[in-house]
Amino acid sequence: MKKLIIAIDGPAGSGKSSIGDMLAERLGYAHISTGSIYRAIGWKAHQCGISLADVPALVHLIEETTIEFRRNADGSLAVVLDGNDVSHAITTNEAGMFASTVAAIPEVRTGLLSLQRQAGKNGGVILDGRDIGTVVFPDADAKFYLDASAEARAKRRFLQLQEQGREANLEQLIHDIKKRDFDDSNRAVAPLRKADDAMPIDSTNMSREEVVNTMQEYIDRLSDRAAS
Ligand code: C5P
Repeated sequence: MKKLIIAIDGPAGSGKSSIGDMLAERLGYAHISTGSIYRAIGWKAHQCGISLADVPALVHLIEETTIEFRRNADGSLAVVLDGNDVSHAITTNEAGMFASTVAAIPEVRTGLLSLQRQAGKNGGVILDGRDIGTVVFPDADAKFYLDASAEARAKRRFLQLQEQGREANLEQLIHDIKKRDFDDSNRAVAPLRKADDAMPIDSTNMSREEVVNTMQEYIDRLSDRAAS
C-alpha cells in the first residue's frame, strides 16, 4: 500500500502531537512535530544569548545547527539538537513562546523548510504543525485541521505540565495560547490557516480516540477511492 504523507495543522494545544502519535502507531508511520524544530532553534538562541529579533544571527545559528529525530525504544521520536536530546527541555511553555517569535521570521522559516521536506519526502509519515498542508507539503495525501476552544486547549496543556511535574498556571496558559493564536494567525509568512482541502476537526468535546477514529476513517476512504 502507498505510504502516505499526512498533514495535521492547528493551533497550540489542539492535540496535534498526541493525536499524531496515536495515528502513527495505528498506521505504523513516523510522526514528526515540526513545532519541535522551531522550539529547538528558539531554545538554542535563548541559551546562546542571541536576541530573537537578530535575524542575521538566527540565520547563522540555523546554518551551524543540526536537528535530527532519533527513535526511542518506545517508538517515540527524540529531538536531537547538535547531538543532544532536548526533547524534554523544549516542551516548556516558554520554549513555545520563543518558537512562535522565531517562527514569524521569513528567513528562519526558509532555513527550516528543507529539513521538514527531507523528513517527510519518502511518505509513511505524519507531520504536524501550522503550515504543513499549506506550505511544507501542499500536495500531502491527507490533510487535517485540528482545532478546539482556547480554554479547552489551555486546560489540556495545564494537565500535561502537571503530569510532567512542572509548574503551571491556567490563567497564564489561556493568555499565552490566545497570544500565540493571534501571532501565528496574523504573521505575514505562512500564517496558521486551514488548507482549502483539509478536513476540519473540532476536538473540544471529543476524546483522542474519537479524533483518531475520525482521521482513520477519512484516510481509509481516501485509500479506497484511490484504489477504485
Ligand atoms: O506546535 P508547537 O506548539 O510545538 O509549535 C511551537 C511554535 O512553532 C508555534 O506556536 C508556531 O509559532 C511555530 N510553528 C510554526 N510552523 C510549524 C510548526 C510550529 O510556525 N509548522
